[in-house]
Amino acid sequence: MDRSSAQKEIARLRREIKKHDRLYYELARPEISDGEYDLLMHRLIDLEKQHPGLVLPDSPTQRVAGKPLPGFAQVKHPAPMLSLDNTYNEDDLREFDQRVCKGLGGQSYRYVAELKIDGVAVALFYHQGLLQYGATRGDGTMGDDISANLKTIRSIPLSIDAPEPELEVRGEVYLSKKEFVRLNDIKQQEGQAPFANPRNAAAGSLKQLDPRAVAQRKLSIFVYGMGRPPESLDQHYQAMNFLKDLGFKVNPNIELCQDISQVIDYCKQWEQKRDDLDYEIDGMVIKVDSYAQQRQLGATSHSPRWAIAYKFPARQAATILRSVEFSLGRTGVVTPVANLEPVQLSGSVVSRATLHNDDELKRKDLHYGDTVIIEKAGEIIPQVVRVLIEKRDKKARPVVMPQDCPVCRTPLRRLEGEVAWRCENVSCPAQVKGRIEHFASRGAMDIDGLGPAVVELLVNKELIGDFGDLYNLRKADLLPLERMGEKSADNLITAIEKSKGNPFWRVVYSLGIIHVGTQAARELAKRFEDMDSLAAAGCQEISNIYGLGPAVGQSVENFFRNTQNLKVLQKLKRAGVSMKSDTSTGYGGVFSGMTVVLTGGLEGYTREQAAELIISRGGNISSSVSNKTSLVVAGSDPGSKMQKAQKLGIKIIDEKEFTEMVKNI
Ligand code: IVH
Repeated sequence: MDRSSAQKEIARLRREIKKHDRLYYELARPEISDGEYDLLMHRLIDLEKQHPGLVLPDSPTQRVAGKPLPGFAQVKHPAPMLSLDNTYNEDDLREFDQRVCKGLGGQSYRYVAELKIDGVAVALFYHQGLLQYGATRGDGTMGDDISANLKTIRSIPLSIDAPEPELEVRGEVYLSKKEFVRLNDIKQQEGQAPFANPRNAAAGSLKQLDPRAVAQRKLSIFVYGMGRPPESLDQHYQAMNFLKDLGFKVNPNIELCQDISQVIDYCKQWEQKRDDLDYEIDGMVIKVDSYAQQRQLGATSHSPRWAIAYKFPARQAATILRSVEFSLGRTGVVTPVANLEPVQLSGSVVSRATLHNDDELKRKDLHYGDTVIIEKAGEIIPQVVRVLIEKRDKKARPVVMPQDCPVCRTPLRRLEGEVAWRCENVSCPAQVKGRIEHFASRGAMDIDGLGPAVVELLVNKELIGDFGDLYNLRKADLLPLERMGEKSADNLITAIEKSKGNPFWRVVYSLGIIHVGTQAARELAKRFEDMDSLAAAGCQEISNIYGLGPAVGQSVENFFRNTQNLKVLQKLKRAGVSMKSDTSTGYGGVFSGMTVVLTGGLEGYTREQAAELIISRGGNISSSVSNKTSLVVAGSDPGSKMQKAQKLGIKIIDEKEFTEMVKNI
């Protein structure tokens, strides 16, 4: 392609990608599948490689173009990044209001109340509309230049249509609760210390020196203000709309309040509703709306007088440690888990809590029978925060890590640089079972009827030693098993047989390679045409794939170096499990490349189940009908979406036809 057509095509691709970033990250209304998005990105990367002179600093490709840094440079904030004073109850808030009232000498004023996002404060500097650099708060005067890491966050625009030549936007980088759980799962499998909460996870991620590793973390941002707002703006609430219009992600839960009573009501509402959010908040922030009044009130050396934080109480409970279980994951890591006297904690009864690892056991100096304080980490996983030593029985025994694997008795080992003790016996029944359960699970090979109980029976009876053996099972092997009738045995054999036709990416995912989730598996299946070429690729080649990184690269290389794993792969190959990329995108499936809308009630599936079936078969879900919709699945009382689809001439199917379609992978 000549330079001028390349230039046009590059500009078009950048526009498209920016549009889809916005739809996905800010508006949560994606219009294309991840696969289609990746195709656009790869096309842009290829064209920019051919024409390096056309690469611009705000091209979406620059989000992951950073190289590992030796350390972070320091930057001075043009205006200091202050902190907020905290309040903890209604009376404190009313006192704050009285101070504001006095400070404004009888003028009328309004407040804006918004969520206090529990993440990491950052400042973003735009010069002539281009993101020039981004920094942490640091000590408020100097911060770390973490530009390369911030650029990996897709909800941060790389360029904006700003009227001002200089604009400093401030916000909170955070990790969703879902991502936090995913990250800690990986940490756990790798024998690393988990993050205590999403805030620490976000902070730890932003401090990484390799931006490619940061890109894996799926961080996000909510912006909440500006260093020096443009003169055209008079109020904070208005400024939030201005930032939203520029393409920033602004939290939608924001309220303009006429007086402090309204503020208090709004705060109380969110104290009740905070669990409904997909991210952590640790309170609310209350700000005087008018900029002129903010200036009039001024600031102390560390916090403004026009704003205050209302912190929610930490949610903790005291209970008794009954016993400790040492549970084993599919990678052999041993995790101590506390069995507790059941106790009510923020809406649920807690009877188990993770104790993380040996270091944590020692640090907390846990003894059996101890009275312990528990808290929900990131309000998700309960954990033991501390022990009430004064309540300890004199004869209490300390909790210690076992020296041998609680399942197979192999001596446990602690590898250098890891906090975890591992059972290194790859044939340890707990690991064997864990790997087979993962292989058969919904998101992986989706073998119906092969849950943990059946896996347990099959392994205990030595009918299988790894997931490759599943394909040699016959009905006669299954019939003698407990609670296995003719029909279930037939169904299981059929389900195993059917799984051979799963697309290649699912096979890659089901191998249980550390760091290779569904997204990475799809990426790998797209890049490598079959298992042999994937096995032959080294760490470097994989690390360089867009969206993957060194951790994935190393883990894939290690997996294919292990002879035991190669033997299992051989079994899969012999059985006829698909070892080749079946479509050019690696997505495969009956809904491949389709954008599907679900409307009305389905009898046989919940919304989530139907959506999962579509996604796992290559499709993409959209909540509204547009001319991008490929198919509408209409249940009972479908309503206006169906009418719109009819008008646009989009194919509509009913539940029966849907069931027929999902029978095909
Ligand atoms: S406004 C002068 N608004 O809370 C400080 N801060 O404890 C103005 N934070 O450092 C900050 N959500 O990192 C503001 N909606 C919000 C916020 C918010 C979270 C953080 C921010 C700040 C810390 C103060």
